[in-house]
Amino acid sequence: MNTILITGCSSGFGLETARYFLDRDWTVIATMRTLRDDVLPRSERLRLQQLDVTDSDSIARAVEAAGPINVLVNNAGVGLLNALEGVSMDNVRDVFETNTLGAIAMTKAVLPQMRERRAGVVVNVSSSVTVRPLSLLSVYTASKAAVNAFTESLALELQPFGVRARLVLPGAAPETAFGDNARARMGMNFPEPYAALAAQVFARMQQRRAVTRALDVAEAVWRAATDPSCPMRLPAGADAVEAAAAAAAG
Ligand SMILES: NC(=O)c1ccc[n+]([C@@H]2O[C@H](COP(=O)([O-])OP(=O)(O)OC[C@H]3O[C@@H](n4cnc5c(N)ncnc54)[C@H](OP(=O)(O)O)[C@@H]3O)[C@@H](O)[C@H]2O)c1
Repeated sequence: MNTILITGCSSGFGLETARYFLDRDWTVIATMRTLRDDVLPRSERLRLQQLDVTDSDSIARAVEAAGPINVLVNNAGVGLLNALEGVSMDNVRDVFETNTLGAIAMTKAVLPQMRERRAGVVVNVSSSVTVRPLSLLSVYTASKAAVNAFTESLALELQPFGVRARLVLPGAAPETAFGDNARARMGMNFPEPYAALAAQVFARMQQRRAVTRALDVAEAVWRAATDPSCPMRLPAGADAVEAAAAAAAG
């Protein structure tokens, strides 16, 4: 029986990925900062677990309670859209604490059991903005670019132990709560000199044709988890595939 532990399952990509693996007969440990038992279908193969990836006690409790895990998905993340001048260093630390250090801490906590079993996969959810940079996302992009670098180096050191690490790079997904959650946490006060740029960025967002669906991300996580030959970086979503192709073409 295969078991997957996913962080950030209260909404968006994490929730969809939990559903996707449940539908395919995996045991799913769906972790959430605030537990909700009304978002996923009832199943004997579903376990809900409280987990805040910025809290080391919470991580230790969750990993202890989980037992053997075949696949870890570091999906929990927060957004931050603003000019660098408009964000506080507390905001910057907050984003890195969740997106970067949270993923590293979870991986570190789960690795010993995978290394001992000589099997396992770590899937880190990054972002296509790391290959196609966009305005007003410098801090967020840096937090995810660090996840890319972390994962690519870690994959090499885990190879001798039969443990894989992969990256999923979603594009922009208006359907998830990501934007609203970012606004609620960080506010949206653009410094006056950046107001015109912010207006342009929002206008461009409205014109987007290709976007990412949560299902695209679940499918990419599935491939990363189950196909040992899949590439290190998997773009997820039509816009992410476009961004990856453009980056490859230089
Ligand atoms: N949506 C996009 O456009 C987009 C594009 C590229 C990449 N991504 C990445 O995809 C991942 C999922 O985003 P999403 O679009 O599904 O957004 P979402 O709907 O806002 O989901 C984010 C999840 O992360 C959880 N989370 C936040 N901080 C946490 C913490 N400290 N500990 C544990 N869980 C925490 C949230 O829980 P709460 O409900 O408790 O806040 C929520 O379940 C993120 O890593 C994000 O950076 C998103």
